[in-house]
Amino acid sequence: MSEISPARTRWPHNLKCLMHVLMVILTWHCVVGDDEIVRTNAANPSLQVGNISQVEDAAYLRIYYGQAFKVIKNGIDGRSYLLIQNNSRMAAKTKYCTSRIKSFVIPLANYSIDTLSFPVSFLELLGLLGTLKGITSESVASECVLKLYRDGQLQMINQTQPLSFTKFVAHFISNTDIQSQSCNFATFLPMGEETPLQQAEWIKYLGVFANSEIRANQVYDSVYQSNYLCMSKAVIDKKASFKPDRRLDGLRQCT
Ligand SMILES: *[C@@H]1O[C@H](CO)[C@@H](O)[C@H](O)[C@H]1NC(C)=O
Ligand SMILES: *[C@@H]1O[C@H](CO)[C@@H](O)[C@H](O)[C@H]1NC(C)=O
Ligand SMILES: *[C@@H]1O[C@H](CO)[C@@H](O)[C@H](O)[C@H]1NC(C)=O
Ligand SMILES: *[C@@H]1O[C@H](CO)[C@@H](O)[C@H](O)[C@H]1NC(C)=O
Repeated sequence: MSEISPARTRWPHNLKCLMHVLMVILTWHCVVGDDEIVRTNAANPSLQVGNISQVEDAAYLRIYYGQAFKVIKNGIDGRSYLLIQNNSRMAAKTKYCTSRIKSFVIPLANYSIDTLSFPVSFLELLGLLGTLKGITSESVASECVLKLYRDGQLQMINQTQPLSFTKFVAHFISNTDIQSQSCNFATFLPMGEETPLQQAEWIKYLGVFANSEIRANQVYDSVYQSNYLCMSKAVIDKKASFKPDRRLDGLRQCT
């Protein structure tokens, strides 16, 4: 019997369905280590006021835009993040680290994730695995992350040594049980939202850290559409005359 990793089990089935459909729709491939990711990152000029994400459905996520900075408010744990563009004068001068607000220089030069709680598929869909540099365990559902680890591009973080987290510009956790939080910790809490669609919209939170708003908006719009595909599949299944269609393979997971 194969073990299901915790990263998988924590996610509601509906959201997994949406993400799966998305992967199929976007015909996303494992391109880590390829030029593909480099191109994705290079396509983002560092200062992009005007490329913004607007939150439409999520109840606990707020994003505000300034000229050279952005602010994310996480309504679930009440923490805010001041994200300062790396090419602005503010970047070198400003640093916040309180229990309410922390600052980060963006786009993030590198980051790590709490592998057990963090939904890696969000990063894959955004094409952000190129700057992922640290993980906390090998039990991760993503083949691409495992490949990066095997190729030596990811460091394993020893969780009993707090200093090992500080090597990264940001460390994302999706688990509010983690009490001690260093200045570089950011909480990504989509599962606090009620519906799969609201949870999926948190992809915009990650996009903001990478100046990848346009991509995040596209992914979210696809989720929005595939939500309807998932729902209409129930209707399709009831039709006896329905012919199997390869394009719908991904939707089989939606039952
Ligand atoms: C928004 O992003 C696109 C590429 O994703 C870029 O071509 C465009 O210049 C950006 N717009 C602004 C206002 O920065
Ligand atoms: C800002 O980030 C971009 C993209 O990662 C990078 O190419 C650029 O060198 C950085 N600029 C500064 C001033 O650090
Ligand atoms: C992450 O980026 C920071 C800032 O550029 C750098 O000082 C640090 O060495 C990098 N860490 C890793 C693990 O690449
Ligand atoms: C993690 O750090 C602890 C305490 O320093 C050490 O005893 C342990 O062997 C380390 N674990 C790994 C996997 O390196």
